[in-house]
Amino acid sequence: MSETIKKPVLFSGIQPTGNITIGNYIGAMSNFVKLENDYDCLFSIVDLHALTVRQDPASLRRKSLELAALYIAAGLNPEESIIYCQSHVPQHAELAWILNCFTYMGELSRMTQFKDKSQKHADNINAGLFTYPVLMAADILLYQTDLVPVGADQKQHLEITRDIAERMNGIHPGLFKVPKPHIPKETAKIMSLTEPEKKMSKSDPDDSIITLVDKPDAILRKFKRAVTDSETEIRFDPENKPGVSNLLSIMSNMSGESIESIVSRLNGQGYGALKQQTAEATIERLKPIQLKQEELLKDKEYMAKVLKTNAERAQTLALRTLRKVYKKLGLYQP
Ligand code: AMP
Ligand code: TRP
Repeated sequence: MSETIKKPVLFSGIQPTGNITIGNYIGAMSNFVKLENDYDCLFSIVDLHALTVRQDPASLRRKSLELAALYIAAGLNPEESIIYCQSHVPQHAELAWILNCFTYMGELSRMTQFKDKSQKHADNINAGLFTYPVLMAADILLYQTDLVPVGADQKQHLEITRDIAERMNGIHPGLFKVPKPHIPKETAKIMSLTEPEKKMSKSDPDDSIITLVDKPDAILRKFKRAVTDSETEIRFDPENKPGVSNLLSIMSNMSGESIESIVSRLNGQGYGALKQQTAEATIERLKPIQLKQEELLKDKEYMAKVLKTNAERAQTLALRTLRKVYKKLGLYQP
């Protein structure tokens, strides 16, 4: 099968774990949709990464399919973009091994995500958790990627990816394209509703996150209970007013209205109005996505076909890079 690349390449991935939050949606998915037409895109369901913490097999399987449906429901086109499961393309794991041999223990031990996750899962600090960024680098470098849209928490992983690529290019010129991160300030970091100094994260308690499958009444209830501050003024000031600023940022991203416009429109009204309108904008934005996702998940045959065809498209591209790497590194190829 021939798969041709005409535009710059965009790669990103999301782990099929927990419930996808509006942090993932705003920080990652909505940017994927905005960029889709200008790039040849790959959007992966990174199921191998998910194995770095213990997963229930049935749930992992279900969540992988749900994430695939969500990519499409959010507006990505699986006839154009390659939407696929990482584990269906064995070249990711193969390249990760090679990159492991060009990555230092010291640089991996500086990764903040590794430090955080080893604290959270102190009973299971496995080697996969340690080499997680190497598999991520393999995901990206395998497709000679130009651009990687992610949230701010992935910046360090993009830096190590670039370091590995440059290190290997230094020995074998032209081996990899050195990718650039795409982390727009407005979408980089959506905060927890109950602890607004902390990033909203899939694995956090339910009342601190809004998931993409939350029903309108749950969305309204959670926003109403969101932590703000003891003042009354609605003002965008993430440092001093993290809760209020987070609500403004969510409302702006969900409705498309600028933060300045929201602030001046709500001038003199209380936090109650801000919470109510943030909830309404979120419900409105998620409604068509939820309906579409449900519809897609009913059509198991279609979903299976999309994932199978797209994994084949990805393999064609992945093999090109992997063969080149094997050859340049001196692995005998008959
Ligand atoms: P993960 O949930 O770790 O698989 O993250 C998938 C994508 O969503 C990555 O690009 C993250 O950087 C992004 N992301 C996750 N949480 C947030 C958040 N609270 N704000 C912005 N982006 C996020
Ligand atoms: N590590 C990313 C996260 O947790 C997910 C991911 C894996 C990814 N491989 C990737 C993101 C490649 C961008 C590109 O959010």
